[in-house]
Amino acid sequence: MFLTSKTALVTGGNSGLGLEVAKGLIKSKCKVIILGKDKAKVEKAIFDLKSNLVTSVTCDLRSQTQIEKTVQQIGDIDILINCAGIIAYQPLPVHDSKNIRDIIETNLLGTIYVTRSVLPTMLKKNSGTIMNISSTSGLPTGGSPNESVYVASKFGVSGFTESLKKEVDDQKKNVRILGFYPGGMNTQLFSKSGLTKDTSKFMDPAEIAKIIVFMLERPDAIKMDHVVVNRNKNL
Ligand SMILES: NC(=O)c1ccc[n+]([C@@H]2O[C@H](COP(=O)([O-])OP(=O)(O)OC[C@H]3O[C@@H](n4cnc5c(N)ncnc54)[C@H](OP(=O)(O)O)[C@@H]3O)[C@@H](O)[C@H]2O)c1
Repeated sequence: MFLTSKTALVTGGNSGLGLEVAKGLIKSKCKVIILGKDKAKVEKAIFDLKSNLVTSVTCDLRSQTQIEKTVQQIGDIDILINCAGIIAYQPLPVHDSKNIRDIIETNLLGTIYVTRSVLPTMLKKNSGTIMNISSTSGLPTGGSPNESVYVASKFGVSGFTESLKKEVDDQKKNVRILGFYPGGMNTQLFSKSGLTKDTSKFMDPAEIAKIIVFMLERPDAIKMDHVVVNRNKNL
């Protein structure tokens, strides 16, 4: 897809992978709308990006009402990247109930509700791309101790993506549903959740964003619809 003059909504676009994807899209002359929950952080990202192609919206993905209102305000978009996410690392019995809800609401329900709000217009105009950022944790081989709730949310995103892909294909619509499954990246995902984890050897999100932009730039008929990117464990 030629990205010039297209409009992309990137959830979680103020940080980490989402921010790098926003940068890559802007380089390809795509208009970008960054969605984040924290007004100050979103405004800082806009300031740092220094581009007249980027705008922002503030929306907490834990709120279905906010999502629906926000998408309605934005109007037509050509590309949706569901990238926002949070993690927790703790044994299930000590997992706080609010934290469990936050993870499922942000990672899984947020993805489902934003997609449900955006998809009807894409189907109607018979054009558009939705990419869901799952994780290698969301693959059948995934699953790690102390990450059960995060992994459950990512399995949910994977199942949602794979099923929706078939639903849209069955309608013979020219709308791409793409699943992206990265391994560990060097972002603030862990530190924001209060985790001390050495991520310095994890993948550079800027490199991962390049792959995402490459996928989006393919012609509409070319669907790289299940891409797994993992770091070489020997390095
Ligand atoms: N880092 C990894 O190792 C890794 C591996 C596989 C998959 N992933 C996935 O990649 C995606 C991007 O994560 P990242 O590593 O780039 O982490 P990140 O830098 O923490 O980015 C996450 C983004 O999601 C936003 N967000 C969190 N809760 C939100 C909410 N309720 N409403 C709206 N936005 C919200 C954050 O906003 P704030 O800045 O305001 O919190 C931030 O912009 C996530 O889906 C993550 O699960 C990450």
